[in-house]
Amino acid sequence: MQVQQSTSLLPYNTFGIDAKAQFFASFSHLEELRSLLAYHKELSSIHKYIPLMILGGGSNILLTQDFNGLVLKNQLKGIELVGEDADHYYVKAAAGEVWHELVEYCIAHNYAGLENLSLIPGNVGASPMQNIGAYGVEIKDVFHALEALDINEGTVQTFSNTDCEFGYRESIFKNKLKGQFIILNVTYRLQKHPVLNTSYGAIKEQLELMGEKELTIRNISHAIINIRTSKLPNPKEIGNAGSFFKNPQVSKFKLHVIWDDYPDVVAYEVNSLTYKLAAGWMIEKCGWKGIRRGDAGCHAKQALVLVNYGKATGKEILDLSSEIINSVKEKFGIELEREVNIV
Ligand code: FAD
Ligand code: EPU
Repeated sequence: MQVQQSTSLLPYNTFGIDAKAQFFASFSHLEELRSLLAYHKELSSIHKYIPLMILGGGSNILLTQDFNGLVLKNQLKGIELVGEDADHYYVKAAAGEVWHELVEYCIAHNYAGLENLSLIPGNVGASPMQNIGAYGVEIKDVFHALEALDINEGTVQTFSNTDCEFGYRESIFKNKLKGQFIILNVTYRLQKHPVLNTSYGAIKEQLELMGEKELTIRNISHAIINIRTSKLPNPKEIGNAGSFFKNPQVSKFKLHVIWDDYPDVVAYEVNSLTYKLAAGWMIEKCGWKGIRRGDAGCHAKQALVLVNYGKATGKEILDLSSEIINSVKEKFGIELEREVNIV
């Protein structure tokens, strides 16, 4: 167990924010994690309570200040087939595995279900945190179970799909159980007989552009990778954490009010009473797309993504997000909610 002090978190967050962690350590075994938690308890008894942060790939956080606490970087590794039935393969992946590497592994073995979630940055352990989703699929559609360590009790608990209380970019771990569990591994229930999902319009267009006649999980993955790289900034080149805000859900009545003034409003039906609005469209309508404030900016190809062109601080990006929230509220009467975890 090695604990470093005053460590720069620059290499550990995709926004490229240069904040420091007072204490920093990584763990690659459960026992190592337990020792670090014991160390955390000891630290907390000396100073008063010391905050704790579990870090995966750092692709869904915005560091707005130095972290005066202990950061634990998850390096748990391993992917294995743990079971199968007539229709499914059950694949268990350790929380520190890189998400897209798991997707690639499943495609190579012809286990279907993760292909629409290709190229999402980050690690397996964070995938249930906000029920990651893209191109018509959410993790809840393929999630079987997870094991997590109860930080206070030291016990390992199993959570089923319903236990996780998944919702749009939500789970029990962001709400009722926030900060109480460390996810150790996740088991996904993947299909033996692929049910391909091309419901998201852009996928079919992209497959046609690629000249692909055959529908396979590999081709769908390629199409998704092409779509994503055409509009989302690569964090290795421009700092970002993907969509900064959630797409808000509104009533049919509210949608009609907006429709009257903006017939081009982009909305998707959730159910007969509720619609999801494209926040990127609203932000663009407010004139933010491509706007830059120093090194903080609103991406020129996708207004829902805030970016760090180099040396922006987390505070500057947070301030820009507040300005965007205010102007969307003024124009549309809707308060955007941040999707990124603010630290
Ligand atoms: P981190 O940023 O490290 O952590 C996120 C949160 O989860 C933190 O609060 C952290 O403390 C907590 N956490 C992490 N691991 C654990 C654990 N093992 N146990 C307990 N808590 C933990 N997301 C989507 O849903 N769909 C997309 O299409 C998408 N596209 C993106 C595109 C880009 C370019 C980028 C940069 C991000 C995108 N994201 C997307 C957001 C992000 O990739 C996901 O939320 C991802 O799951 C975050 O994983 P991470 O390992 O980087 O999490
Ligand atoms: N749009 C605009 N202007 C913009 C951006 C979007 O008008 O600048 C409109 C367009 O009409 C576009 C529509 O919004 O067709 C939807 O845009 P897009 O397909 O890019 O999806 P999104 O709603 O902006 C969501 C997720 C993404 C996910 C994609 C694909 C959220 C908060 N974001 O974005 O997830 O990859 O759909 O499924 O739900 C993330 O969470 O970090 C993320 C990138």
